[in-house]
Amino acid sequence: MFRILLIPLLAVCLWSQETHPATGRRIAPVMGFGGADWLVRPERVEEEEPDKALDAIGIAAGSTVGDVGAGVGYFTWRLAERVGPKGKVYANDIQPRMIEALKRNLAARDITNVEAILSTPDDPRLPARSLDLILMVDVYHEFARPEVMLRKMRAALKPDGRLVLLEYRKEDPNVPIRHEHKMSVPEVKAEIEPEGFRLEKVIGTLPRQHILIFRPSVQ
Ligand SMILES: C[S@@+](CC[C@H](N)C(=O)[O-])C[C@H]1O[C@@H](n2cnc3c(N)ncnc32)[C@H](O)[C@@H]1O
Repeated sequence: MFRILLIPLLAVCLWSQETHPATGRRIAPVMGFGGADWLVRPERVEEEEPDKALDAIGIAAGSTVGDVGAGVGYFTWRLAERVGPKGKVYANDIQPRMIEALKRNLAARDITNVEAILSTPDDPRLPARSLDLILMVDVYHEFARPEVMLRKMRAALKPDGRLVLLEYRKEDPNVPIRHEHKMSVPEVKAEIEPEGFRLEKVIGTLPRQHILIFRPSVQ
């Protein structure tokens, strides 16, 4: 009887990984739809400077971009404008209510070059080898199984594509965000490089976040 109960329990514990095996980082809980208003708070423009972030990354007109963990679309509509009518944005999230709100936000802005995708914690549901850029803003630290997501995102990128993370700086005690929602540069590098990427650049010009740009490594 004990063995019958123990085996499923062990399987559940292994599946719901709570710390990252490479860094020991505690994985943050997923922000629920209750946080949707916080994602569009007016102060966010000053706190995160989203347009300055996108200028620093460089979003080419006509490019194909993935906004992974798009929430209600705060970055999606900015990306859609930058890639223009010849480009395309794939915006995904694992929460149906986020995707519904994202669609409403896009419709209110007459944006038609975005495909909204309800994805799963292990599959971003992006087309293979077709993206110039994948952006994750305040998302990576919530991935339940980051290694699996990274492998799938790598498969969705073009060989010269870029994987870009914005994460709150763990190095800076003045950034007023809970510890498990922040990441340090060595932590991000130690988790992402073994999954087939190399860190190309870190941009530190935003008030609270680092911008970390990775390329697929040649295999
Ligand atoms: C803090 S919110 C950030 C939303 C958006 N990127 C922004 O900056 O406004 C994190 C989002 O990531 C989503 N998320 C968490 N794990 C995910 C996964 N494996 N795939 C896609 N989205 C995920 C959550 O549902 C949540 O909407």
